[in-house]
Amino acid sequence: MMRLLIKGGRALHGEVRIKAAKNAVLPILAASVLADGECEICDVPKITDIDYMLTILRSLGSDVRVEDGHIFIRNQGISDYIVPGEPAKELRSSFFLLGPLIGRMRRAVVSYPGGCDIGVRPLDIHIKGLREMGIAIEESHGKIYCDGNRLKGADIALDFPSVGATENLMMAAALAKGTTRISNAAKEPEIVDLQNFINAMGGKVSGAGSGKIVVEGVEKLHGCRYTPIPDRIVAGTILIAGAVCGGDVSVANVIPEHLEPLLFKINKSTCQLTVQSDKISLVAHGRPKVFDKVETQPYPGFPTDLQSQIMVMMSVAEGTGVIVENIFETRFRIVRELTKMGAIITVKDRTAVIRGVNRLEGAAVSAADLRGGAALVIAGAKADGYTTIDNARYIDRGYEAVEELFGGLGVEIKRIG
Ligand code: UD1
Repeated sequence: MMRLLIKGGRALHGEVRIKAAKNAVLPILAASVLADGECEICDVPKITDIDYMLTILRSLGSDVRVEDGHIFIRNQGISDYIVPGEPAKELRSSFFLLGPLIGRMRRAVVSYPGGCDIGVRPLDIHIKGLREMGIAIEESHGKIYCDGNRLKGADIALDFPSVGATENLMMAAALAKGTTRISNAAKEPEIVDLQNFINAMGGKVSGAGSGKIVVEGVEKLHGCRYTPIPDRIVAGTILIAGAVCGGDVSVANVIPEHLEPLLFKINKSTCQLTVQSDKISLVAHGRPKVFDKVETQPYPGFPTDLQSQIMVMMSVAEGTGVIVENIFETRFRIVRELTKMGAIITVKDRTAVIRGVNRLEGAAVSAADLRGGAALVIAGAKADGYTTIDNARYIDRGYEAVEELFGGLGVEIKRIG
């Protein structure tokens, strides 16, 4: 069912155990294509973006079993190098099957990928880097054709530290002849996780997290058992929900360091944070105070994937604040929906000015992307009266059973037709 109904106004209480990060699991599943043996990926959430990826992998010939949050994947049977158009349309990450398919099959064909419609999301950085590795690439009729017979290591300097391009190049390089050096690489924790996964399969990758990644190509990779890092964005969403709605919430099984850009901001509001080695607790003390400015940046800056949620917090905070969105230009579409709920926000180009209000009111709103959808759930949980959120399928891409997640914290929320 595609719509959520929320009765807002209650404070939140409880603890959520965080599972593996969607943005770590997706490239790891793609990278498993490089292995000769079976890979077991542990603690995986049940979300539709991962289902789409598994559908694509099955259609290429992978043997996939999902048992109790563990994905067992064997890729010996992969005989196809053409990523099917239909499920790939739903999932932008299908594009980084290019790297592993070229590594394994020396060939790949991918349809122009889909995913949330947030901004233009061009692929020029991926394509430029892959070409520098000797891959011949042609684009025609919405498809990208790659011939990797001349695949070799290369020195690549990215124009921008794109997460997906860094991952794609690391995967293409893992089985390439020679050494690949990627400078101005993305530094996100998910990049470090991909490095650790490739190394667990017997690869030779170093430097992830530093901006300069070195991949020494190896002949073969083997299967392994791997637990990806916990989802810092789901954890951040819960902490912000606690700050917005009041009460006390904890997120367990987290790596606090990954949440530092958010914790730094929350620390400036009236909330009290307690950070332990793998757990963060938040107690809200009344209305949050506004932080002057939030500007999204590549990691370790403030993540664009928490920008909509922090906008909800600023909408109900005391004072006027500013958000600058530097990564994806259309991530302000939630503003129209929040305005329906009584928020006071003006947008010009990449900047939003938010004048905090005392209360939000329930309204009929619609999600336009994954993180914006999650932010609307927070707004609905805060607002007086009833909120309905259309297009909840966007939220299902990245949050497992969102009604149980928030219901478990005391929010009155259910799925309706
Ligand atoms: C990943 C995350 C997404 C997150 C984003 C930024 C996954 C599956 N998704 O997306 O949740 O919001 O990182 O942290 O991990 N760009 C180009 N040319 C390219 C590639 C990217 O111009 O070839 C631009 C994009 O349009 C965008 C910016 O670079 O403006 C960031 O994109 P990128 O870091 O590649 O994000 P994704 O990997 O798509």
